[in-house]
Amino acid sequence: MKVAVLGAAGGIGQPLSLILKTQLPAGSALSLYDVAPFTPGVAVDLSHIPTDVCVKGFTGDDLPKALEGADIVVIPAGVARKPGMTRDDLFNINAGIIANLVKNCAKVCPKACICIITNPVNSTVPIAAEVLKSEGVYDPHRLFGVSALDVLRSETFLAEELGLSKAYMQVPVIGGHSGNTILPLLSKVLGYETISQERIEQLTKRIQEAGTEVVEAKAGAGSATLSMALAGARFALKVGRGLAGEPGVTEYGYVEGGSKYGQFFAQRLEFGTEGWKRVIDFGPVSDYEQKCLDEAKSVLEGNIKKGVEFGQKWVAENK
Ligand code: LMR
Repeated sequence: MKVAVLGAAGGIGQPLSLILKTQLPAGSALSLYDVAPFTPGVAVDLSHIPTDVCVKGFTGDDLPKALEGADIVVIPAGVARKPGMTRDDLFNINAGIIANLVKNCAKVCPKACICIITNPVNSTVPIAAEVLKSEGVYDPHRLFGVSALDVLRSETFLAEELGLSKAYMQVPVIGGHSGNTILPLLSKVLGYETISQERIEQLTKRIQEAGTEVVEAKAGAGSATLSMALAGARFALKVGRGLAGEPGVTEYGYVEGGSKYGQFFAQRLEFGTEGWKRVIDFGPVSDYEQKCLDEAKSVLEGNIKKGVEFGQKWVAENK
């Protein structure tokens, strides 16, 4: 298994690469790429950790070398938001970065599973899809937006609310990865009936704004890096376990297909040897969740449309 991390020297990329170095199966290869010239140094640093995962670092024009033979590409590259910004405010700067990186993936490792962390995920994944289509290699089952941090946050906040161990908490989070498109299905959690509706709504809001909570706490120094690194690594490792043939591995991810609520939609996926193989239906939801879902639908549609239009324009201008 070879995993490439694009944006590997950044705030998310470094801890993400560290987790992969310690948790990828023995015999795997880890390939780090970043425009930062010290990226080969990050690889040397990680290479001193005694696991049987070979690490190499690349920068500058060596992106194709970094991607050679990759089975999974994880992309945290791009700019993070500052207080007062929404994820969508990053669109103008990050959209072109994603398009360019994904074009390289299409050319060098067209079969790789691509896991996008770069915001705004609701739009960067549709951009990636357009670029892959233009290269004739788009397989919706191999393209993912990483929304798993919303699940981690929901598990943490719900466990705290219910006074339970965080280790056993499971909370489905569907929709997208920004604002009210993040929809935690708290009605699915054991113990939900003991929480008042007012509190459910407060918890839902907190989960939807949790990224902003970190952005504000970091006061201009960026957004979530460590928790996002864990979410990204956990997601990529599960994709890898699916590719390796392990049955029944699931995680929430933002993909095209499988939902009547959006062309792209975050939902529970079962991984297989060819990417995600099946969407697991989330079943009935509460009246409040249904209202949130209906509200999220049009926002998500707008985010997707913006990504698709940018992607098509970028493709036409970068033939
Ligand atoms: C997050 O959820 O923490 C990330 O998407 C970063 C951000 O800007 O909120």
